[in-house]
Amino acid sequence: MKTLWQHCHVASMAQGVYSIIEDAAILTSGERIEWIGPRQSLPATADARVVELNGAWVTPGLIDCHTHTVFGGNRSGEFEQRLQGVSYADIAAQGGGIASTVRATRATTEEQLYASARQRLQALLRDGVTTVEIKSGYGLDLASERKLLRVIRRLGAELPVTVRGTCLAAHAMPPEFAGRADDYIEHICTEMLPALAAEGLVDAVDAFCEYLAFSPAQVERVFIKARELGLPVKLHAEQLSSLHGSSLAARYQALSADHLEFMTEEDAIAMAAAGTVAVLLPGAFYFLRETQLPPMDALRKHGVKIAIATDLNPGTSPGLSLRLMMNMACTLFRMTPEEALAGVTLHAARALGLGDSHGSLEVGKVADFIAWDIERPADLSYWLGGDLPKRVIRHGLETHF
Ligand code: NIG
Ligand code: FE
Repeated sequence: MKTLWQHCHVASMAQGVYSIIEDAAILTSGERIEWIGPRQSLPATADARVVELNGAWVTPGLIDCHTHTVFGGNRSGEFEQRLQGVSYADIAAQGGGIASTVRATRATTEEQLYASARQRLQALLRDGVTTVEIKSGYGLDLASERKLLRVIRRLGAELPVTVRGTCLAAHAMPPEFAGRADDYIEHICTEMLPALAAEGLVDAVDAFCEYLAFSPAQVERVFIKARELGLPVKLHAEQLSSLHGSSLAARYQALSADHLEFMTEEDAIAMAAAGTVAVLLPGAFYFLRETQLPPMDALRKHGVKIAIATDLNPGTSPGLSLRLMMNMACTLFRMTPEEALAGVTLHAARALGLGDSHGSLEVGKVADFIAWDIERPADLSYWLGGDLPKRVIRHGLETHF
């Protein structure tokens, strides 16, 4: 079925740049875009159903390319502790932090995990998200990681959103392996990843490279196994210290390296050469009250593509609005609203390996777009969250939820 969407303006992101079409029309055929351009150049389209968009601004559907949406419990108690001056690293050292969410997640049934994650994901969808990446990483044993990845697959099957599932087994040390990090890495490589990949539960492999998590040498073993299994890699890198995880990620053609506050110019050069996207997470920066800013000048100078994501997780970024993150990327990291929009569309798609089909509005790409009732595209970064009036079109069909 063909649909002609007209009387709108489009921020298309076509050909990898921020580009505007005023008084545009979009012709969709099934779930794809068949034609897009200025309305007066539209070829004859007698057989299409016509939808009036009443002057809305159309953008690609938003893509949240880094989340930990599925978890048990929450950590508002740790939030209060941190407000009293206890650091994230101190809390982790005392058995809190990721380890406390692992305990809660293991004790929560698959059904309960699904129900709570579904609510969080629906908040993201109401904000204009049509594609999301969700990581495991709060299970840390085969059965519990499988439970999380199955919930992630079910969310994609039951909600109107494209979901990519990432295995983050190398997130933290499970208590069973206390003091034996290399053994746990071996277990991930020989048992967990091969089994979870064979079950079709894994689209990418991630790890946490940090002094309080895993070393670059340990991460590299995980990357080698991922490559053997034909899976792309990503990395939490340079969040709290500089271990050059982002350069390691670039050596393995990672889709992205994420956080990056402590990265160096050399890391930026390596990422640019490899096409590894820099995923910045202003929610975590804000929530941990960090002061070390990601090196925006070096990223721009070397042409590293910059994406923005919520990092939705119970410890460092309980963020339920991707547009709020766009605002924070502008106010905290001094990105422009145009960069922020590219960061949640074009570059976020690349960070998920979906650059050929998603992230911009071009002929042949998937017809995922939002028609926003706003004055200017910059309004998306201007408002601090909230439920902006919009129509959501996914796979060529208007979606209500
Ligand atoms: O992206 N950095 C590691 N992982 C998460 C935090 C996880 C947690 O504290 O529960 C992050 O910030
Ligand atoms: Fe994260």
